Amino acid sequence: MKALVLGASGATGRQVVRQLIKRQIHTRIHIRETAVLSEDIHNHSLVEIVKGSISELTDTDMSALLQDCTAIISCLGHNITFKGMYGRPRYLVFDAIKRITELVNKEPAKKRKLILMSTTAYTNPLAGEKNSIAERMIFSFLMLILPPHRDNVKAANHLVMTTGHEHKNIDWIAVRPDSLINETEETTYEIYESKVRSPLFNAGKTSRINVSHFMAELVTDDAKWNQWQYKTPVIYNKDYL
Ligand SMILES: NC(=O)c1ccc[n+]([C@@H]2O[C@H](COP(=O)([O-])OP(=O)(O)OC[C@H]3O[C@@H](n4cnc5c(N)ncnc54)[C@H](OP(=O)(O)O)[C@@H]3O)[C@@H](O)[C@H]2O)c1
Repeated sequence: MKALVLGASGATGRQVVRQLIKRQIHTRIHIRETAVLSEDIHNHSLVEIVKGSISELTDTDMSALLQDCTAIISCLGHNITFKGMYGRPRYLVFDAIKRITELVNKEPAKKRKLILMSTTAYTNPLAGEKNSIAERMIFSFLMLILPPHRDNVKAANHLVMTTGHEHKNIDWIAVRPDSLINETEETTYEIYESKVRSPLFNAGKTSRINVSHFMAELVTDDAKWNQWQYKTPVIYNKDYL
């Protein structure tokens, strides 16, 4: 098995890479030219590094990136700087997810697992989720003023509403952490089909290391994958529930 991690230099992406290495999975990582990797990842024999900006890849580059990878994990996200949030690419995550689903659809039938790092700020209409009036107003406002939020919503919607259950080659899961925190050790976490707290008025916390643990388990544990396939599981650290 080979896995591809997009956004592998990010705070969650690098934890995902470590979790995959721990499970002895060959891992191709995609990072920008400017990205700085820690030694344990950079020099690991299971890790293959591909550099570039994801939004500048040609279809041929993207196909080469995907080649032989049966699991694809996107931990892409906009840098929290003015340029990262308001500059281009506006649809960093959505464009990558859309291109992947479209490109692999042209290939001969062969299933791949696609895991998207989403957010509790995404509300899954097909799971019967509804926001309160106040949440609806604030989320609508955020859609207008925060391009990264719009991008995350569009990316998750692409899987939930467009890709659905019928894609020839993609099985997917969109993992939704609540407010992200950094911890050094994995702790107990809980997974729910839908949010059990308001991400706006009563947010929980999710450590990036727990998100990465769950994602790696989804890659390796078929029973877990089957439980969450085509869903948008929400993950919270138990300590903060
Ligand atoms: N903050 C929260 O509480 C929260 C909660 C739930 C979900 N999320 C979402 O979770 C995701 C991951 O979060 P995180 O904190 O791990 O993100 P992060 O540390 O900012 O990592 C983002 C990754 O995307 C890469 N990237 C950005 N622009 C790129 C481009 N043009 N081409 C290629 N790669 C590019 C970054 O590369 P560089 O290292 O080169 O910059 C980095 O590897 C984000 O989408 C975020 O919105 C956040």
